[in-house]
Amino acid sequence: MARQFAKVSSSLPGPRSRAITAREQPYLAPGIQQISTLAGLAFEGGKGAVLVDADGNRFLDFVAGIGVASIGHGHPALAEALMRQASKLTSGSYASEARASLLERVASQTSQIGSGKLTRTMLYSGGAEAVESALRLARAHTKKHEAIAFWGGFHGKTTGVLALMGSDFKHGLGPLPAGNYLSPWGDLEMLERTIKLSTTGKLAAILVEPIQGTAGNLLPPPGFLKGVREIAHKHGALFIADEMITGWGRTGRMFAQQLYDVEADIMTFGKGVAGGFPVAGVVTSDAVLADAEPWTKPSFSSSSYGGSPLASAAADACTKIVIEERLDQHAARVGELLLGELNRLRRFAFVGEVRGQGLMCAIDLVDPKTRAPLARPDCEFLFRACLERGLLTMSYSPRIRINPPLVITDAEAREGVEILEEAMAALEARKS
Ligand SMILES: Cc1ncc(COP(=O)(O)O)c(C=O)c1O
Repeated sequence: MARQFAKVSSSLPGPRSRAITAREQPYLAPGIQQISTLAGLAFEGGKGAVLVDADGNRFLDFVAGIGVASIGHGHPALAEALMRQASKLTSGSYASEARASLLERVASQTSQIGSGKLTRTMLYSGGAEAVESALRLARAHTKKHEAIAFWGGFHGKTTGVLALMGSDFKHGLGPLPAGNYLSPWGDLEMLERTIKLSTTGKLAAILVEPIQGTAGNLLPPPGFLKGVREIAHKHGALFIADEMITGWGRTGRMFAQQLYDVEADIMTFGKGVAGGFPVAGVVTSDAVLADAEPWTKPSFSSSSYGGSPLASAAADACTKIVIEERLDQHAARVGELLLGELNRLRRFAFVGEVRGQGLMCAIDLVDPKTRAPLARPDCEFLFRACLERGLLTMSYSPRIRINPPLVITDAEAREGVEILEEAMAALEARKS
């Protein structure tokens, strides 16, 4: 079928991709993101929701660096802001015009959550680093030390948050710090039991992804997040919302807290905030900070790169675009269209649940007979079938997560699903 956006004209990987990959291979330590290893492609550029590889092939991007490329690829305003700031000043934690502008802009958005108290930000350069800091802040404020997160949750790979990771990522990496517990996602009764039966009664924080991203873009059951907040407060703990993926418009609202009508005591953000420049942050209220030593002592919560003039310029330029172009509303509208299109794929016997919120969608692939997750070789076949037709999507897993750049157009979203449908038809033919 003729395509408007995707175009693959070489074998995959093409000769230039293969040459670049071969140069990296002897020196790159293993463990890079699966999608990169499976695709075997080198990318050179992009525009909006389209990525261009080193051989000139064009792919629709349903991944966006796992929710990072919010304003799309090759955005001229981000490039301009980085160039302008890089030629003046790049490092240091002194006040800067760029940081002042970013802090004001972030607060203009976070203050719209709930009662409007989330206005104070500390900046970092990675998601795990920000979540670790949020946990330290909760400990500093409550003078307690235990934390609970949820099965399926993902908050990064540093040791502190690894202990709160609800998956087998942590196997082989123990022992992990004590005082961290996991409770089944979506179950408030079990959360109460975890607090009663597992903790020592010194709970500082409950940490939750408003929508579980890595677990498969799982939406919370009705009332779950409000219940978590209530339970946290009942036990004198803080409620931390990790909005690393869900923040900055992805769910159709600026923050998922607004979607579910909850307000965290501490929230974290990252990924889409700076369109690819490494920026993350912790936002909280004056009330939490009023009594939060040692976190609040000079140099106790800072980092080398957090909020540097360069990082701030990148995040400010990206955030300005998200706000001014109302990419949250755009994500809500295109997300609805995308979900409608994805629902068509239910006609395939191996398509289970299809779900989504804004531009955080997912399809579960299942064995048609047993309804167990579809076997890995079938998923990898689907991944390659998509790639060969010009779609990058996380279909190598039986839980396909779809997180395109927020700027994706209706026509691009439709074409991406057309490719996925064609690839699924190829998988169906192979299985029959
Ligand atoms: C919800 C959430 N929190 C934290 C992280 C960790 O972010 P980073 O990879 O920047 O450390 C991620 C990464 O995927 C995430 O999805």
